[in-house]
Amino acid sequence: MSKCNSSRPANVLSLKQKKQTGNRISMVTCYDAWSAKILNESPVDCILVGDSLAVVMHGFESTVHATVEMMTLHTAAVARGAPDKFIVADMPFLTCSRGIDVAMDAVRSLMQAGANAVKIEGADHQLPVIKQIVEAGVPVMGHLGLTPQSIHNLGGHRVQGRDEASTQKILEDAVKLEEAGCFAIVLECVPNKLGDCLTRRVQMPTIGIGAGPYTDGQVLVLHDLLGTDPGFSPKFLRRYANVHDVISHAMDTYHNDVTDQSFPSLEETYG
Ligand code: KIV
Repeated sequence: MSKCNSSRPANVLSLKQKKQTGNRISMVTCYDAWSAKILNESPVDCILVGDSLAVVMHGFESTVHATVEMMTLHTAAVARGAPDKFIVADMPFLTCSRGIDVAMDAVRSLMQAGANAVKIEGADHQLPVIKQIVEAGVPVMGHLGLTPQSIHNLGGHRVQGRDEASTQKILEDAVKLEEAGCFAIVLECVPNKLGDCLTRRVQMPTIGIGAGPYTDGQVLVLHDLLGTDPGFSPKFLRRYANVHDVISHAMDTYHNDVTDQSFPSLEETYG
């Protein structure tokens, strides 16, 4: 039973309604069952099983290493931990570039694992694929700005939409994504003016990460906002905890207690 999750779970309609009524949407990544259980008890609106799990959970350098199998396994774990949350799962690298059958197989795998929607980066050759996925009854969230699956083409993790041409492309792409049927869009690492302009331009909710305060919602990587890696501090990140130090301190104390034989005490053993 969820403790404080008294409101109904979000869905594509309630998220749209939040935009219409000016209520912000909170979204956070999650990759496993134990943290999903905690999020299930929180008021957070939706969970993203992001392909960032390739980096955060598996230690790869970029999200291009995420596979359908990895995404499916993590989505299933999150769905078991957070049955009351709206779960969006990332379509991994190249799944929308190798034909509709490959895309649909990935969609089926993620949805059957417990996702309520899929997220797709880009708005070029992805558009017809997005249309077909939406027509098949699956909600699609778009993703523009810094699209990490294309970092090699973008020249690294850099702010997008800094010049007129790329600003226009992002705005036009957002309109195309909406026309293709996307119910919402993630906007990553763009100037806050573009976040504002795009949010006014489309009816679908915009969810920003490093896109300023004017988008309809915000998303952060759970591990980043919890402060698991003190060395990672991009400008847009606000840390809400210092989990790195909490874990380090717990491990030091546990190790000391074991080595000085103060753990376990007799009270912590079976008679
Ligand atoms: O994979 C991910 O975590 C994401 C967020 C950064 C939006 O796509």
